[in-house]
Amino acid sequence: MTETASNVPVEGVAMTAIGVAVIRARETERADRLYDDPLARAFVDAARKGFAAERWARVLAVADQFYEGRTVGVRLVDDRIGTALDAGIRQIVLLGAGLDTRAFRMGPPPETGVFEIDLPELFAFKEPVLDRAGAVPTCQRRVIGADLRQDWRNALLSSGFRTDLPACWVDEGTLGSLAQEWSQRVVVTLTELSSPGSLFGAARLIADPDSTPYRELRRLMAGDAAADATRIDMPDPDFDVEQWLTGLGWNTEFRSWNDMVAPLGRPATHPDPRVGAIAAMRR
Ligand SMILES: C[S@@+](CC[C@H](N)C(=O)[O-])C[C@H]1O[C@@H](n2cnc3c(N)ncnc32)[C@H](O)[C@@H]1O
Repeated sequence: MTETASNVPVEGVAMTAIGVAVIRARETERADRLYDDPLARAFVDAARKGFAAERWARVLAVADQFYEGRTVGVRLVDDRIGTALDAGIRQIVLLGAGLDTRAFRMGPPPETGVFEIDLPELFAFKEPVLDRAGAVPTCQRRVIGADLRQDWRNALLSSGFRTDLPACWVDEGTLGSLAQEWSQRVVVTLTELSSPGSLFGAARLIADPDSTPYRELRRLMAGDAAADATRIDMPDPDFDVEQWLTGLGWNTEFRSWNDMVAPLGRPATHPDPRVGAIAAMRR
């Protein structure tokens, strides 16, 4: 597959993955980087070709606004996956994988299955860039072009996912709010596919959809047309995610964002102590 400027997702939800790649490329260039993602630069350089200069400047500006929080978030997920691999888990499922390169950069052992689920248009851009970079995963990387709002279970199973082995499920900015019906359906499905000892991390976010960065992101996703009609799923503060996951069959533990980021020495604290992550283990 040859990547061309027309493969670049310049709008829609798949475009948001480019913004995160911009963030990871920027982090990788720092002397005090929290992780090293050399392929992020390849994605950014390839994506740039698909955007008009003015729109690209806006993508960079939005990435800049999300940078501090998002980049420490990447490192926290790296740590979570590292812990799962150390504990012997050999199946990692990335829900809305975007331009994630953990199958390459984290060196999962060869018997590990890393299952990347995202929309087909995302992989139409991603795969040719990886090919051109000569990137070789250390593990069994499986690409699953599917819409998480539809049937992704069968695609995952036919790509080699095993329900008799534990898995580490990663949602890094895709499910948004577990108060949403479709996000809940994804979690119900992954619960059914999870053997005991499987891990899942859910964010407890409190974000204002009308804040400047989210409004601009929404406009970019909509291609500036009908921007108000483009929804970004936002958390419902009254929905108790922990209680819901417990009822589904997970043991949960909450850690506040501020506790998690404190050891990283970055200016990424959050004023609300209720923001953080729920670490869940399947009973
Ligand atoms: C903000 S990006 C994050 C990507 C990646 N997790 C990361 O941290 O780099 C959200 C990703 O979710 C994907 N996504 C959104 N809705 C989806 C859906 N219904 N089915 C599959 N993927 C979806 C987008 O294509 C995009 O790649």
